Amino acid sequence: MSIIQPHGGQLINRFTAQPETLPEQRIELDAMALSDIDLIANGAYSPLQGFLTKEDYEHVVENLRLKDGTPWSLPITLPVSEEQARSLQGQAALVKDGTIYGLIEIEDIYKRDKQKEAAKVYLTTEDAHPGVSKLYKRPDFYVGGRIEVFHRPEREHSDHYYLDPEETRERFQQAGWEKVVGFQTRNPVHRAHEYIQKAALESVDGLFLNPLVGETKSDDIPSDVRMRSYEVLLDEYYPENRVTLAVFNAAMRYAGPREAIFHAIVRKNFGCSHFIVGRDHAGVGDYYGTYDAQKIFSHFEEGELEITPVFFEHSFYCKACEAMASHKTCPHSKEHHVILSGTKVRELLRSGQKPPKTFSRPEVVEVLIEGLKQQTADVKG
Ligand code: ADX
Repeated sequence: MSIIQPHGGQLINRFTAQPETLPEQRIELDAMALSDIDLIANGAYSPLQGFLTKEDYEHVVENLRLKDGTPWSLPITLPVSEEQARSLQGQAALVKDGTIYGLIEIEDIYKRDKQKEAAKVYLTTEDAHPGVSKLYKRPDFYVGGRIEVFHRPEREHSDHYYLDPEETRERFQQAGWEKVVGFQTRNPVHRAHEYIQKAALESVDGLFLNPLVGETKSDDIPSDVRMRSYEVLLDEYYPENRVTLAVFNAAMRYAGPREAIFHAIVRKNFGCSHFIVGRDHAGVGDYYGTYDAQKIFSHFEEGELEITPVFFEHSFYCKACEAMASHKTCPHSKEHHVILSGTKVRELLRSGQKPPKTFSRPEVVEVLIEGLKQQTADVKG
């Protein structure tokens, strides 16, 4: 039995023991960069060994490839201010809130063209787009170079949900799973998610449920509440030996199609042979077409990414079919279909109202309403 090879052929490991002497120069990390260094170090971003150098960055932005031709769709960058860019050289410590997490061996420092990066990567230059807005707020120079990491970010969830690619690979191997389908999500779990996960699971050995728990936009449901929603669902409705649940500690970019490729490559590094891409994957608002994140896979040659995308049509509960369905499987008109937008559902939940059973399982709804109540109470103090 053989598990899929990591992207680029080798699982990267950039963890080291903390050196006795540390460079005086320091680069302050934001939340996105902190999660990125951990995911570079543990091999989730293989073959990256650090932040993109200018040449790699330009190739990624223009062609969705590193300069050696390896597919890579999102620029993973370390921003610094112009003032800092002028003085930095050699090695710098990577710091957040007083903690030194690692080092970067500076290879180059370059100015980005943020409008161009927005237009190419996010397909819009509007700063109403949360990913573009974040991009514009970050400083204007990027530092490229390999990193070494000796401290890991604090964990916000139970330890057993933190699995490095080496560990998931080991687990899949032990479970005898050769075909594993990866699932990315930043939302609470709904029937449609369950439907497409289970439909995919019918033809593979296992499901790797990998909710993103890094930085998200402020109106997304907090990750601890989402994780509890997964726990109740898995307890009641999934066979225990068919699912591995682990957190994906990356920041959400909302880059739609480009992020779907990135999400697939990263899950390949975790050992997934297949990856689910449904409707408007990693999208936000109306910036992307419903199936753009599926169409982008044809930018690459057949088999080039090695991981197999598993595409799903927009799924919904159909009252006439009395089942989950999509336009591929249901002949009825839209009055029969239960379709709620993410925004609508968040509104309902935040006001303590229950979305219909046909949209979300009651056990899950309970957890979501309770979790959001708790969150409101915490905010009010
Ligand atoms: S995402 O930003 O992480 O993509 P979300 O958590 O909503 O958002 O989606 C997780 C995965 O489920 C994505 O692949 C998405 O395309 C898919 N998906 C979500 N809702 C549906 C649906 N109703 N029908 C088909 N696919 C869906």
